[in-house]
Amino acid sequence: MEDYKENYDLPAKTPGTGLAAIGETAPATERIDDLTCRKLIRKAMEMQQKAYTPYSNFKVGAALLAKNGTIYGGCNIENAAYTPTNCAERTAFFKAVSEGERDFAAISIVGGPNGEIKDFCAPCGVCRQVMMEFCNPKKFFIILARSEADYWVYTLEELLPMGFGPLDLEK
Ligand code: THU
Repeated sequence: MEDYKENYDLPAKTPGTGLAAIGETAPATERIDDLTCRKLIRKAMEMQQKAYTPYSNFKVGAALLAKNGTIYGGCNIENAAYTPTNCAERTAFFKAVSEGERDFAAISIVGGPNGEIKDFCAPCGVCRQVMMEFCNPKKFFIILARSEADYWVYTLEELLPMGFGPLDLEK
């Protein structure tokens, strides 16, 4: 069961040694103001409580900030057939886009087993791709949090380098 771990040499997801060391990642305050980050993190934590996770019990919450200030919450929603499962981030995006929203500024994400938050929860590759569809990779901020005060901010480009997006279809 544990064998697969030998295939990975992943850095720990802690600021300074792991994800936070990628690219030009800077302290959160240089990216987006602290009050906004905290507000989004609180909303993501609230959404985490709504996660429907009878199979993994890994509960994720997200809060997506539109440029007009509206915040859309999302949680992961699992399914007995497994593959229809929707991540918290995509739930938030699909809620927003289905309401006519297209312009986004940032998303905060929290997650952990049994709804506890012990480490940063980075978005899966599929969710990063969905972000790529609607967001400028240099300007869209992804806030990963372990608590309201303990968070790091990345651009989408940092978490999805050389991403394929709508503009690539025109080249
Ligand atoms: N999950 C998310 O909702 N977002 C992430 O960023 C990572 C994974 C969900 C999918 C599934 O319901 C559970 O977490 C375990 O993978």
